[in-house]
Amino acid sequence: MNTRIVIIGAGQAGANAAMALRRQGHAGPVVLVGEEVHLPYERPPLSKDALLRPQQARLALYTQEQFAEQDITLKLGLRATAIDSQAGTVSLANGETLAYDKLLLAIGAQPRRLPALDALGECTHVLRTLEDAQQIRAQAQAGKRALLVGAGVIGLELASSLSELGLQVDVVDPARRAMLRNSPEPIGAFLQATHEARGVRFHFATGVQAAERRGDAIHLTLDNGTQLQGDLLVYGIGVSVDTTLADSAGLRCEQGAIVVDERCRTSQTGIYAAGDAVVQIDADGQRSRIESWENANLQAAAAVSDMLDQDLATPTVPWFWTDQCGYNVQFAGDMAAPHWLLRGTPGQGPFVALGLADGTIVGAVTVNAGKDMRPAKELIARRAQVDEALLRDPAVALRELAKMS
Ligand code: APR
Repeated sequence: MNTRIVIIGAGQAGANAAMALRRQGHAGPVVLVGEEVHLPYERPPLSKDALLRPQQARLALYTQEQFAEQDITLKLGLRATAIDSQAGTVSLANGETLAYDKLLLAIGAQPRRLPALDALGECTHVLRTLEDAQQIRAQAQAGKRALLVGAGVIGLELASSLSELGLQVDVVDPARRAMLRNSPEPIGAFLQATHEARGVRFHFATGVQAAERRGDAIHLTLDNGTQLQGDLLVYGIGVSVDTTLADSAGLRCEQGAIVVDERCRTSQTGIYAAGDAVVQIDADGQRSRIESWENANLQAAAAVSDMLDQDLATPTVPWFWTDQCGYNVQFAGDMAAPHWLLRGTPGQGPFVALGLADGTIVGAVTVNAGKDMRPAKELIARRAQVDEALLRDPAVALRELAKMS
């Protein structure tokens, strides 16, 4: 089979799709197009090791040699500018045209921008790319004052790394608590207390009303009247997808993302999409938009399986993690569960939070208790109903409960 496969986007989803194609037996041409000049790299370390231990940070997903061995053609530092889905071609910024039989869009997402903060100049950053991390690192000397806007995953991981580097940190978010979008209340409260114990100051339920630069210093006025000063500012207020390419191909988009089915097929035959750029609609019409490292890998695998007419892997319980202030926090399932109970006591060693809906376990968060994640996922996948007293009792191992249910 000499099917020509082109992948646009050389991040987590794109690079892993290219490798999976070879692993699963595709012998035809594979071209991986990426706008960034670097070999595909991991983004999770950018807010952690790339700031704290830049020399040791291991970022590259695969080496140049591995791509060569697999006969994957890399076109890096090149933006795809348009797709002609009738002709089956992709135009690149250098004028080149690539013909494809099957196409995967793994184009990711970009940080949402706040022009009033961008106007502050080179002391203002977002964090998505290796260059962003390097620029932040270059300005992050001990004793400086960092202003973080957004108390989501990016804001909190930065608060952790920058406070560890000895900076004074203030975090501003109009939400009422930390990680409101994707963590349950007790975990948000635990993370906030942990950061505060390190000296991080939070300003919740208030936004940035005015931002200006006076000499080298940044001055922020918050909606509640608080005045803050800093030497650098990083904001992480969520991401948005650039749908220009998808629009050029006439792909159906919704909620600002590319619509795919459970096999990661878009509305055009032969065109797939995976990762942060995607909203997935399953056979029951359920929509999910998941921005995570795991989801990028799983959707890449699903697209590849469909391209090669192979069976799809069994769906798993969605999972992601964050590392903050010495805590590894892993999340699985539904973070919007109405009722959460704790196994163990926050601040006194490892603990687990379990989310329940009508007595059924639908979500879990482990804090420095990663070994409990597998049984927690099993309980969620089985929609287990377990007596609450047993669930609360850390002396009864979760894996025993998973076996029993
Ligand atoms: N000013 C301040 N904060 C804001 C504003 C604003 N104008 N608008 C939104 N926010 C806050 C939200 O209340 C939320 O707490 O920004 C936070 C954004 O958090 P996330 O949605 O987690 O996004 P972010 O932290 O930018 O992470 C981006 O990277 O690691 C991945 O999974 C992560 O996909 C996510 C992405």
